[in-house]
Amino acid sequence: MSAIPVFKPLIEQEEIDAAIKSLEMGWLGMGASVGQFEDALKNYIGCADRHVVAVSTGHAALHLAMMLIELEPGDEVITPSFNNIADFQAILAVGAKPVFCDVLEDTLCIDVSKAEKLISSKTKAVIIMDYDCCTADHDAVAIMAAKYNLRIIHDAAHALGSYYQGKKVGTFSDICMFSFDPVKTITCIDGGALIVKTQEEVTALHEMRLIGMSQPATVMYENQRAWSYDVNRLGFRYHMANLHAAIGLTQLNKMSEITEHRQKACQLYSKLLAGIKEVKTPKSDFSDVTPFLYYIRVPSEHRQPLRDYLKNNGVDTGVHWKPGHWFALLKDVQRGDMAVTDKIGNEILSLPLNSKITNVEVTLICKNITSYFVWAQ
Ligand SMILES: Cc1ncc(COP(=O)(O)O)c(C=O)c1O
Repeated sequence: MSAIPVFKPLIEQEEIDAAIKSLEMGWLGMGASVGQFEDALKNYIGCADRHVVAVSTGHAALHLAMMLIELEPGDEVITPSFNNIADFQAILAVGAKPVFCDVLEDTLCIDVSKAEKLISSKTKAVIIMDYDCCTADHDAVAIMAAKYNLRIIHDAAHALGSYYQGKKVGTFSDICMFSFDPVKTITCIDGGALIVKTQEEVTALHEMRLIGMSQPATVMYENQRAWSYDVNRLGFRYHMANLHAAIGLTQLNKMSEITEHRQKACQLYSKLLAGIKEVKTPKSDFSDVTPFLYYIRVPSEHRQPLRDYLKNNGVDTGVHWKPGHWFALLKDVQRGDMAVTDKIGNEILSLPLNSKITNVEVTLICKNITSYFVWAQ
């Protein structure tokens, strides 16, 4: 039986045509399509007063965000331990120290009251990440950040298209970032973006994403390069390529159908799983988010047997995530009370979700979960 994958990118004829056109154009590096992608993303998010800078991956966006706020070795950045490895590595890459915070049981996003207890004289920033269909308490983080003079890096890799209290994600944070990797809600094959407030930040990011070169983006966005430039700062080869931007542009055009499809699939999941007492579904009706994942929580002793049962019945599952402090590299990272993170790390399970998943597939997956728990009684 062919497996229903956890993730499946939406690659249709439009993406293939866009890729062919881009390859035929012959300007493979950063060029016109990147500028168009940034404009289209800005337009989609509705952040007219902000600036969008496209980069090669979400991890690159996080690393550049850490560089942008000029962290120094020994500075501390508070992040949920229940987060993607990319965030931890970005902190480490600039010589700063991650400090791990717990999450809230209901949203699986940072517990701001616990975060406040972790603040020291070395704390310079806090990462706030919206987990899947849940948005974090951005107002509480903004209050805390203002009180302690902290920068906020909003990891919105899961939250493109979602709203926080009526405000579109990307319109309200200090620094916001997105990922367009192969499995995200929309993909550029690989890609990322930062949303910042000032022209000064844009100039720094433009140079840092281009190994420090001060070539004006306006020239490059005409599929040209400037031959006179200076190198003013440390940088990495983190720019987005035309081919990737061209694919991202076609994906962005589909955001409304992607959102609607994913919302309906998640609503069906929650409805069909509602009767199983061992299964906890997300506390969301999905109406104001574009879900990236559909996660459930099951008692820890059932997670692996359930995964095996589903696998044997043609359903792939994933685990997002193993908490940061469970990894060898990060086991000694300073942290506060991790009661919720340590619990959910053993319970969390991602079910298949993609922008074309059918009701038949969701129903079949839920039937299998139901029969597992009947069988396991
Ligand atoms: C929350 C979060 N942040 C950052 C990233 C990193 O993005 P990328 O894979 O584009 O480097 C991911 C990727 O899965 C993610 O889930």
